[in-house]
Amino acid sequence: MKKDVMLVTGAGQISMAIARRTGFGKKIILGDKKPENAIAIAKIMNEAGYDVTPIEMDLSSRASILNIIEEAQKYGEIKYLVNGAGVSPSQAPVEAILKVDLYGTAVLLEEVGKVIAEGGAGVTISSQSGWRMPQLSAEEDRLLATTPTEELLALDILKPENIRDTLHAYQMAKRCNEKRVMYECVKWAERGARLNDIAPGIIVTPLAIDEFNGPRGDFYKNMFAKCPAGRPGCADEVANVADLLMSDAGAFITGSTFLIDGGATASYFYGPLQPEQ
Ligand SMILES: NC(=O)c1ccc[n+]([C@@H]2O[C@H](COP(=O)([O-])OP(=O)(O)OC[C@H]3O[C@@H](n4cnc5c(N)ncnc54)[C@H](O)[C@@H]3O)[C@@H](O)[C@H]2O)c1
Repeated sequence: MKKDVMLVTGAGQISMAIARRTGFGKKIILGDKKPENAIAIAKIMNEAGYDVTPIEMDLSSRASILNIIEEAQKYGEIKYLVNGAGVSPSQAPVEAILKVDLYGTAVLLEEVGKVIAEGGAGVTISSQSGWRMPQLSAEEDRLLATTPTEELLALDILKPENIRDTLHAYQMAKRCNEKRVMYECVKWAERGARLNDIAPGIIVTPLAIDEFNGPRGDFYKNMFAKCPAGRPGCADEVANVADLLMSDAGAFITGSTFLIDGGATASYFYGPLQPEQ
């Protein structure tokens, strides 16, 4: 029997947790810039009965995105997308964060949206970070949502002189992800498919561990101490949300961003995590 095809980017903990929860019985194409990461996760999953083919891909390159789509299509129409590739503020410079997390995600959602199978569903992973910065203007949000992908990085609000640091770049990228999902979900619907976004708080993964040990380590320890859950999250908890969004139980959900952060954002605005005025 032909298997449904699931395209997964980013061979990290969050992608793997979602793929394990939602990808059993499907043909999974797993792309990562570091082929060794994709091969390692594919091995773990294949030895647990999944059907995963690892492939090298770079989310910051349209050619590479088109290539992984083509590879996936060799197994049939793509029915599911999990976009868990990304770089964090402690891992990369401003330019790379904007190219991978902002531009690359926008291109991936656009290109998969052109070919997604009827009844299909996708999730992309943004971050609670996108909820932390002050509101953008309605016009800025609109520009992030609707600017043609190849013009995105030329927007004034994304020019190097207007980006303070890597955290600001990451916040803009993740805000853009949310807006892009709203914009693209309308097109995905024309093909009978849904698209949503998950904005996790701190989830224990290699990416987050880099953050704990980076210049903002104390900031994170304070966040765990003062957020309602009192702890960081686990990738399988993100997979719980992805499972809802990608299954028929989520059939009425599209264009949404789900915050899963143990209440850290709530505490940041109205609780003990509020920044000093
Ligand atoms: N871990 C957290 O606390 C947390 C919180 C909020 C959001 N996120 C987001 O979740 C997503 C997944 O992160 P994770 O925690 O699973 O991290 P991870 O480090 O476990 O996995 C990320 C993977 O993406 C790959 N990658 C990086 N750049 C790439 C590129 N240009 N093309 C293809 N692959 C690339 C890395 O090689 C790595 O394998 C990221 O977008 C991240 O911003 C993570």
